[in-house]
Amino acid sequence: MAETLTITDNRTGKQYDVPIHDGTIKATDLRQIKVTPGEFGMMTYDPAFMNTAACKSRITYIDGDTGILEYRGYPIEQLAEQSDFLETAYLILFGELPTNAQHEEWTRDITQHTMLHTNISKLMEGFQYDAHPMGMFISTVGALSTFYSDAKNIFSVESRRLQTIRLIAKVPTIAAYAYRHSIGRPYNLPDNDLSYAGNFLNMLFRMTEPRYQVNPVLERALDVLFILHADHEQNCSTSTMRNIGSSHADPYSSLAGAAAALYGPLHGGANEAVLRMLTEIGSIQNVPAFIKRVKGGDGRLMGFGHRVYKSYDPRATIIKRIADLVFDVTGKNPLLEIALELERIALVDDYFVSRKLYPNVDFYSGLIYQAMGFPVDMFPVLFAIPRTAGWIAQWEEMLTDPDQKIARPRQIYIGPAKRDYVSRDKRK
Ligand code: CMC
Repeated sequence: MAETLTITDNRTGKQYDVPIHDGTIKATDLRQIKVTPGEFGMMTYDPAFMNTAACKSRITYIDGDTGILEYRGYPIEQLAEQSDFLETAYLILFGELPTNAQHEEWTRDITQHTMLHTNISKLMEGFQYDAHPMGMFISTVGALSTFYSDAKNIFSVESRRLQTIRLIAKVPTIAAYAYRHSIGRPYNLPDNDLSYAGNFLNMLFRMTEPRYQVNPVLERALDVLFILHADHEQNCSTSTMRNIGSSHADPYSSLAGAAAALYGPLHGGANEAVLRMLTEIGSIQNVPAFIKRVKGGDGRLMGFGHRVYKSYDPRATIIKRIADLVFDVTGKNPLLEIALELERIALVDDYFVSRKLYPNVDFYSGLIYQAMGFPVDMFPVLFAIPRTAGWIAQWEEMLTDPDQKIARPRQIYIGPAKRDYVSRDKRK
């Protein structure tokens, strides 16, 4: 027998049987619940989408209570241990791990599209010397739509694949140029003999040496960080990608919007905020006073808490391990001790325990990035590079899902009732 939910409307005494599929009811099935035939019908009120599934997805699975994260069914721990970013991106985008031949072709395709059109570099040169790299990233990704007008063919499988390759290939170059611009150094061209992460480090940090020597520990650490950030189902920026894409905008415009959503300190800007917070705390002795302030409602413990994870974020566990490897190469980040002390206190403090606030992915990632030589302003950009894979996969899934239409939430109007216009001289 089909599962249903029986709802009794005590305004009318009527009963409604609403079908249950996948543990959910369709919000539009509630529209039949009316007192009078002419009215709109029952809606749900769900600010911030706390309890609304807006899509069906095959990409990423999260169990927030037990701290599970899987891409296409593969546990994040196994991917972080055994995969590389480009392979994981392929998995996220196309649903299966690539064969050797597919991996080779995919890597070649990405490597061949890493260069930026000269006019894009010129465009980036126009930014102020102190422009935030994330602002440059957002604008430049948006500007790509003016260079690739074929991208508007969003229902062409070939076009979507080409834009996907361009985006995955070019976001590290844009990110690196944004960084080089902010420090007043010339752009480094991509080196196609290097790995995805290795080439990114080359474009960021090569100085006058003819060939950049990539440190394999840092290269692998960055690659794993990219794997961990590649997708995270329907978060704020991904929902933005889907929302903008639902109007059939081209992928560059949609992705610029997604990156803008990522910029905020409650999302991808959180690791930047963590570093600023740790710097502000300054020393271990100041940790208890800071925790007291947070508990008193003055600010938040950045890098803690998550809408979905109500246990330790599995990505934070992996990152903590990587941190040790990176610090062996770079030397310890002096802020680490403050972070460890904050975590130690928060994990036993009733305020955090009762609210299920645990370290999230951003709590330690910033410390690693800083130790690797990235300025704090670059942190959200480092998040946007791998998340590009997730955004595109989610965008494509949305476009090819027959259930989807242009996104358009409802509202409960609480403004004034209809009233007549009053001319200016008669207004009080
Ligand atoms: N520090 C102190 N209190 C907190 C924190 C925090 N970091 N996070 C949540 N709370 C409290 C909040 O004040 C509220 O308390 P009360 O019930 O007494 O009002 C309760 O916990 C529930 O918080 P919420 O704001 O309703 O939770 P949310 O699901 O809307 O917010 C969050 C999730 C991630 C925005 C939030 O935990 C937060 O602001 N964390 C700090 C920023 C951060 O680290 N963001 C990165 C998220 S992970 C990376 C990503 O996916 O982007």
